Amino acid sequence: MPELVRPSERYKTSFIEAVREAQASGSGLGDTLTWEVGDLEADFGAFLTHLRRFEPPNVPPEGFVNSEYLWLVEGETYLGRVSIRHSLNERLREFGGHIGYEVRPSARRQGHATLMLRLALDRARELGLTRVLVSCDVDNLASRRVIEANGGKLEGEFRLDFHEKPIRRYWIEL
Ligand SMILES: CC(C)(COP(=O)(O)OP(=O)(O)OC[C@H]1O[C@@H](n2cnc3c(N)ncnc32)[C@H](O)[C@@H]1OP(=O)(O)O)[C@@H](O)C(=O)NCCC(=O)NCCS
Repeated sequence: MPELVRPSERYKTSFIEAVREAQASGSGLGDTLTWEVGDLEADFGAFLTHLRRFEPPNVPPEGFVNSEYLWLVEGETYLGRVSIRHSLNERLREFGGHIGYEVRPSARRQGHATLMLRLALDRARELGLTRVLVSCDVDNLASRRVIEANGGKLEGEFRLDFHEKPIRRYWIEL
């Protein structure tokens, strides 16, 4: 059964494989799968430190909030990542919300994102959140289904000056 864990050295080989796979497929790249393989191989520790930079007790710079990355893994295999923002600021309220996620290309369409969001909601509850904002592009049908399967209630569809596609914002009560 896949589980959510803190990013660690243990998954280095599999994570780098996922990066190669994502970069070869060129599809739907999120933020962490865009790192240079050479940099990851040379200093995975620096990458892990980068992922943890907004975790408490670190104080994020102006305009950012505390947040964390968690990885969905099965055994030694990296399947995907979820980012959980511990609070919203004006920018995240408009775009991004509390939770973002991504599944490696070869592991898609197996229910992992649906499970990952469910587990991330448990973590959000632990963090003391009572409702969570999740957003996606209107044409991201997979993400819409993931959010709706996890109880997302549509706030509406919005056009933003700085984003090419309209987005959907959903709230999930915890
Ligand atoms: C969106 C994403 C996270 C979905 O991950 P996944 O693990 O494939 O999702 P699941 O297997 O849990 O599928 C969820 C639902 O979407 C459907 N689905 C999955 N991929 C789909 C696709 N390409 N087109 C239409 N529906 C799709 C599944 O059939 C499933 O529907 P069901 O619940 O009715 O059975 C993944 O495609 C991804 O990482 N995309 C790139 C990054 C991204 O878009 N992140 C979300 C930003 S808001």
